[in-house]
Amino acid sequence: MRKKAARRFAGIASLLTLLLGHAIFAMAATPAAPAASSANGIEQRVAACIACHGREGASNNAGYFPRLSGKPAGYLFNQLRSFRDGRRFNADMSYMVQHLSDAYLMEMAEYFAGLDLPYPPVSPMSDAPPAQLARGRQLALEGDAARRIPACVQCHGAALTGVQPAIPGLLGLPRLYVSSQLGAWLTSERHALAPDCMADIGRRMTTADINAVASWLAMQPMPADPKPALSLPAALPMPCGGMPK
Ligand code: HEC
Ligand code: HEC
Repeated sequence: MRKKAARRFAGIASLLTLLLGHAIFAMAATPAAPAASSANGIEQRVAACIACHGREGASNNAGYFPRLSGKPAGYLFNQLRSFRDGRRFNADMSYMVQHLSDAYLMEMAEYFAGLDLPYPPVSPMSDAPPAQLARGRQLALEGDAARRIPACVQCHGAALTGVQPAIPGLLGLPRLYVSSQLGAWLTSERHALAPDCMADIGRRMTTADINAVASWLAMQPMPADPKPALSLPAALPMPCGGMPK
């Protein structure tokens, strides 16, 4: 299933690259329009993004493209800079943003952060065995003190919907996307601004832990209020980069 999804993804990605290559190149070469007149401008600029990401994102258990709508603007901005500056690797994404300025990236981040759209319904079914789901739930809500893994809720918010301005939610994402991001931290293929707390956490997890937490997260329904929390309930259990000073 993973192979099939990956193959389908590669097919879609190369097709889109062909289709969008020219549009994106033109977009990258055009200087940002002045903010005052950008209402239409920004819609046009993000059309290419929506071709892959959708507006509402993919449904949880299928597909790969992460949803952007409603994520904290600071988080989205940090990711766009990371693709541009080589901390995160994805050929299509790096190509999209390689020539774009911070101001332009921030404008797109704010556009997606401001979209308030419903989430597709989550299937409560999973092919993961109960013991695996129990381990995933434990990591998410309690962590594993013996292995120095803090609970995900300590940083990603009590409802796991993220925390403003720079911590993303963990619900409403494809399972394959979540497990591959944690795997990328484990293998040093994804980096965040230093100190990279997720790299430390990823390296403390086994691949079984990664599958467990990704499977559990992908089954959770969105809470009535899916918006990121406005502030952390307590200080971060370890320092993370990219946060406001
Ligand atoms: C060809 C398909 C494609 C296009 C077009 C595309 N993206 Fe992406 N984007 C991806 C994929 C795939 C990922 C996940 C990469 C990974 O595995 O790290 C991603 C990841 C991201 C992320 C990180 C999300 C997160 O939760 O960490 C952001 C932000 C993003 N894209 C923004 C954009 C913007 C803005 C545009 C338009 C300028 C755009 N993307 C266009 C495929 C695409
Ligand atoms: C110490 C705080 C902290 C803890 C604890 C933590 N995270 Fe994170 N997490 C972050 C930060 C900060 C980011 C954003 C990193 C970046 O900017 O790339 C993040 C990003 C992520 C992402 C990327 C989401 C996306 O859209 O690409 C995933 C997946 C993730 N965390 C999973 C987890 C899981 C699972 C746990 C619990 C086992 C966990 N995190 C615990 C701080 C934390």
